Amino acid sequence: MFALKQCLCYNLNIQIQYRKRGKKMDITALFQLSYGIYYITSHVGEKQAGCVVNTVFQLTANPVTVGVSVAKENQTYEFIKQTGTIGVTILGESADSKMLGKFGYRSGRDIDKFSDTNYHVGVNGDALIDESAVAQLDCTVVQELDMGTHVLFVARVDEAENCENSESPMTYRYYREVKKGQSSKFAPTYVNPVELARMEKEKQK
Ligand SMILES: Cc1cc2nc3c(=O)[nH]c(=O)nc-3n(C[C@H](O)[C@H](O)[C@H](O)COP(=O)(O)O)c2cc1C
Repeated sequence: MFALKQCLCYNLNIQIQYRKRGKKMDITALFQLSYGIYYITSHVGEKQAGCVVNTVFQLTANPVTVGVSVAKENQTYEFIKQTGTIGVTILGESADSKMLGKFGYRSGRDIDKFSDTNYHVGVNGDALIDESAVAQLDCTVVQELDMGTHVLFVARVDEAENCENSESPMTYRYYREVKKGQSSKFAPTYVNPVELARMEKEKQK
């Protein structure tokens, strides 16, 4: 709950801090950054957890590592902390909106996300979701950075495979503009819509 409040107050606080320092902070400038849409998973024993993220990015080529920013409120975060592994599914543009909703807005604490989902178990025991997948990665966490509301996991890629699916990977922009998908309070890129409208109004003055 504390982390959720932190998320909601973040945009307002940052505006105030920057204004005090006489610096510009137009949060919409960060909308120009590009992201994809992914399912990440982890397991504890027989149980799988998983959620939607827009923040998987390659950090190094040798060894191959990726970064993933995960909210501490998510069940998937708890599972990653316990097991130290992450499964990543890179999604194509055909990804089903209902499934994105299930993995992106509901918690595995309240529903079983995997009972009606096609997946196979990867080399580390994490679910790799097969629906609309264009590629899949099995990763092991090698470092983590506590960012307050989120933890940035640095993970080594143990195995990486393209799926037999030639569609384009879904970008975050495509998800928003074509799929008409919404963001989540737990996405690191979240901007409170009320605060955004207020800022836009202020800019027009
Ligand atoms: C478009 C989108 C992007 C998201 N990006 C992230 C992200 O990068 N990191 C994160 O921790 N949560 C992100 N989320 C939120 C989680 O998917 C969401 O909180 C999920 O319900 C957590 O499920 P769990 O409790 O079963 O782990 C995103 C959600 C959506 C819809």
